[in-house]
Amino acid sequence: MSRDLKIAAAREALGFVEDGMKLGIGTGSTADEFIRLLAEKIKDGLNIVGVPTSERTASLCDELGVPLATLEEMPQLDLTVDGADEVDRKLDLIKGGGGALLREKIVAAASQRMVVIADSSKMVDVLGAFPLPIEVNRFGLTATRIAVERASGALGLAGEIRLRGGEDSPFVTDGGHLILDASFGRIRDASALSTALLGVPGVVQHGLFIGMASAVVIARPAGIEVKSSNR
Ligand code: 5RP
Repeated sequence: MSRDLKIAAAREALGFVEDGMKLGIGTGSTADEFIRLLAEKIKDGLNIVGVPTSERTASLCDELGVPLATLEEMPQLDLTVDGADEVDRKLDLIKGGGGALLREKIVAAASQRMVVIADSSKMVDVLGAFPLPIEVNRFGLTATRIAVERASGALGLAGEIRLRGGEDSPFVTDGGHLILDASFGRIRDASALSTALLGVPGVVQHGLFIGMASAVVIARPAGIEVKSSNR
């Protein structure tokens, strides 16, 4: 997505932010644009406090003067604004391309509303062209990978499951876990896959965000579209 479209989506999402809000702040290049615009508004007098969904987001917010609190200090949030890797027609998502899916899901779940910012290339009929990030405990990695293969296979899903970063220097999440990227292809029943994956003890969380987005701001060269759900 071009930077201009990311900025356009982020600017539209600023319209959801009200003075005094407790805000979950997402992770990724689109969320970074939102943070930059938010910081300008704060300089102009907007009063918000943010909870970052990653160390990366916390650093950018600190650098730009966006006031932060921890989720412990503010366990109930008004709104989270975050990006996504895929969005389907029901506004279900795949997230975790930036590796922050666990904190992103915890923060979104603690928020009254979640607004997703994306460009039209992220819109899909069926989730799954983007490899599904699955955050796993380091302990028992191979056993967990086998269990994930079995659980997904029982639902008719197969495909390469890669350790992000490779065996020699795996990507480590902010929570100290690893990520398996699963190229399942079209995920027809995301809820069933979610249940199956969460039944694997070594799986910490996965990047399917089902029924969580309240609205998606979609930026296209021709303009902005906002799709809302009744969440
Ligand atoms: C990070 C995420 C991001 O929101 C997702 O990867 C989209 O990133 P970008 O805005 O850079 O395309 O889920 O874990």
